[in-house]
Amino acid sequence: MALTDPVYQRCISPKCGATYSVDETLVACPKCENLLDVVYDWGRIRPPKSFQDIEARWARRTDPLCFSGVWRFYPLFPFAPEAGVVTVGEGQTLLQKADRVGQFVGTKSNCLHLQYEGMNPSGSFKDNGMSAAFTHARLVGATRAACASTGNTSASLAMYCAASQLMKAVVFIGTGKIAYGKLSQALDYGALTVQIAGDFDDAMARVKEVSRELGIYLVNSVNPFRLEGQKSIMFRVLEALRWSPPDWIVVPGGNLGNSSAFGKAFAELKEIGLVDRVPRLAVINAAGANTLYQLYEQRGLRWNGGMIDDSIIRDYERELDEQSRKASTIASAIEINRPVNLRKCLRALDVCDGVVRNVTDQEILDAKAQVGAGGMGCEPASAASVAGAKKLREEGVIAAGDRVVCVLTGHQLKDPTATVAYHTTDQKMFDEVLGSRGVRRAAYANRAVAVPNDTADIIKAIQLYG
Ligand code: F0G
Repeated sequence: MALTDPVYQRCISPKCGATYSVDETLVACPKCENLLDVVYDWGRIRPPKSFQDIEARWARRTDPLCFSGVWRFYPLFPFAPEAGVVTVGEGQTLLQKADRVGQFVGTKSNCLHLQYEGMNPSGSFKDNGMSAAFTHARLVGATRAACASTGNTSASLAMYCAASQLMKAVVFIGTGKIAYGKLSQALDYGALTVQIAGDFDDAMARVKEVSRELGIYLVNSVNPFRLEGQKSIMFRVLEALRWSPPDWIVVPGGNLGNSSAFGKAFAELKEIGLVDRVPRLAVINAAGANTLYQLYEQRGLRWNGGMIDDSIIRDYERELDEQSRKASTIASAIEINRPVNLRKCLRALDVCDGVVRNVTDQEILDAKAQVGAGGMGCEPASAASVAGAKKLREEGVIAAGDRVVCVLTGHQLKDPTATVAYHTTDQKMFDEVLGSRGVRRAAYANRAVAVPNDTADIIKAIQLYG
């Protein structure tokens, strides 16, 4: 990299700190294998002095760059020329006050908010990051892009390929590990869909090898540019709260890209003086895929100024191997035992005084039913945030009057199988889909009422149940 570059890539390990130019395509530091960051020399880039400068862009929303909920924050991640940005109008998402769900969580009225990322064009938060990764891919002239996925990254990648016609998509998925809504998207958008005989962790390992071998652009969240786009989720949360940081951000943890991006967003906003305090961060694992919880809460792994005790991670991974332990949860989006952004997430937990919890599939599905009944709806993984907030509220870690934002990462229609099984009257279906995962009851089920094809019987049923 030229020493004069105002934007560059840098290894996150302070011991290494190697730097690389923005036009290099890297998913790890070539010197030490650690993750990379996109770094801005704010002294020279001159970030906005106030959020009003950002708000002014919305008035120019006939310009796609000002319309996009990602790129209207362009001054906070200007890593590519504006003319090269790829956007499909992503990020038009909502922060909604959710008092009904707040009652379930145990917060006072006006305190619980849901950041509904299911409103993105491909139905999940991934579009925030994918538009940024595509912008970088265009900058470097990539023609093919790949990812391993539990479903949403592949749907998003496939959509951006189809919409922009800039690259061909290759997606790696674990066999039987992807919810139908997501699989249907990858197929419909025309991606080359490779089903690996293995799970997400296997697919991730293979896609790294294959993309290196074939020179395919990798869009998983090891790609530092993707996380630049995902910072915008927090910018929109702040925007909706009139630029006043909430007390808590609660987010599901899978590959730990979101939590990493959120921590970076807040660290940068503080550095450039746009916020004076950062929210606390709660990352919620599924109990059947709880590596972060085990490492952070049970074994005391910390960022420690970048001097992470790698032996703790190695020991844990050895145990996974020795016991052939595979991730297993109904929240298939976060069914991941080897999160690629673990180290960046530890940094985010450090910046945001974070906590990690894990929640059972039972807790996830009950929370999901409450989110649905509250009018939003989400897929199982997203509801982990609400289940986690409830747990932290019960523990007293979150106070009743704290302002809490739970991020709903994916749309309700992504995984109809889980939703229908929860609400079903068919015991066999319930047992097959949920009972097998330790879910015993559906306390908030809304069961369909079976009636004869007869007007009087239908009226009777409505009077009885309505
Ligand atoms: N929620 C949903 C709906 C997801 O699809 C994912 C990740 C997460 C949460 C976890 O986010 O990785 O940033 O911690 N899905 C990836 C995929 C792994 O392939 O679609 P994270």
